[in-house]
Amino acid sequence: MTKLTVGVVFGGRSVEHDVSIVTAHQAMAALRPNFEVVPIYVTREGRWLTSPALDDLEVHRGGRASEVGEDAVIPTLAGFRGLFIPGGRFKGVKRIPLDVVLPSIHGTFGEDGTLQGLLELADIPYAGAGVVGSAVGMDKAVMKGVFKEAGLPVVPHVVVEASMLVLDEASTVDAIARGVGYPAFVKPARAGSSVGIAMARDEASLRAALDVARRYDRRIVVEQAMEGCSEINCSVLGGPGMETRASVCEQPVAWEEFLSFSDKYLRGGKGAGGKGGGMASQERRIPAPISEALTKEVQRNAIAAFEAVDAAGVARVDMFVREATDETWVMEINTVPGSFSFYLWEASGVGFPDLLRSVIDIAIETHAQRFELMFTFDSEMLAAKGGKHGG
Ligand SMILES: Nc1ncnc2c1ncn2[C@@H]1O[C@H](COP(=O)(O)OP(=O)(O)O)[C@@H](O)[C@H]1O
Ligand SMILES: [Mg+2]
Repeated sequence: MTKLTVGVVFGGRSVEHDVSIVTAHQAMAALRPNFEVVPIYVTREGRWLTSPALDDLEVHRGGRASEVGEDAVIPTLAGFRGLFIPGGRFKGVKRIPLDVVLPSIHGTFGEDGTLQGLLELADIPYAGAGVVGSAVGMDKAVMKGVFKEAGLPVVPHVVVEASMLVLDEASTVDAIARGVGYPAFVKPARAGSSVGIAMARDEASLRAALDVARRYDRRIVVEQAMEGCSEINCSVLGGPGMETRASVCEQPVAWEEFLSFSDKYLRGGKGAGGKGGGMASQERRIPAPISEALTKEVQRNAIAAFEAVDAAGVARVDMFVREATDETWVMEINTVPGSFSFYLWEASGVGFPDLLRSVIDIAIETHAQRFELMFTFDSEMLAAKGGKHGG
């Protein structure tokens, strides 16, 4: 059987550019036994490049990506389904067919539905949540609304428009003090990797935190700080025609008051949750040291959160639990590639190559089903002579 070709898109115009390079590198290694892999690197400026050499971390460390890569685009031409290389210097190749794409850009323009939208238009199956699931998973304000609607417990919070802040900071601060209180967590609605997040203990630090957060997004979420709770994460794997599955749970161990960008990625070397990476095994407990009943509750909530945002493939759901009262709160869902959370699946008996194979099978199945749905609807509108217009 010929191997399917997987395009791995990474880098990107995101604050998480470097993390994405590491994520993609790990994913490409795990894909190789089962697939042909095409690295597709997006520079910080948004230039798309391809070359087998772009999988080499040394190329990125040395800043040589644009030397070794060739300009490439994924066109939305009907039936093209691949990468178009206008230059084609190497061997004159102009088209590399792509059977499926693994989005490996974290955050903005990768995890937020935009890349997924491009791939929908290009008619190429892709791993992870679709446009809506990705976009909702990226937006902490909308996400909490969707969780609430699904009956999931969410942390008390308020959503602040940055423009309101500028117009009337005093009443915004008042509303937060009344609705959330102190200490509070201030977060840009759509950033990720703890960028722009701060804890406010009083009005002065709240004002300062809001001022930072609004540089990252025009919408800001302010949440009650969950004191005396522990963070518990659980990964979910699911797609059409399969039973949605939850992994074992983990308890990340924070170094400081909360997991900052440097905790996640910079301490002890780089890595997007990989072995020997920033979140290495000594920084998390697997399985999480909580009761079996609470574990089950966390897993149920993780699956419900996954379904609520219409995720697909794999996603990690982050929660808070208070063991004394057996309470749980759903904090956020990280869709592909925010977290492949392969360490959770390894601990659940699924190796990274098998996890990626499942995620890719789900991508192809989702695409096939969508294709069937879309093209079985045949309107008679144009055939009807003298019929009514519009409607
Ligand atoms: N309401 C909260 N109470 C206590 N800690 C929090 C709260 N919100 C966030 N944190 C801490 O900050 C970290 C980052 O926040 P999170 O909402 O997960 O942002 P990101 O999308 O950047 O991962 C969390 O992992 C947690 O350690
Ligand atoms: Mg988080």
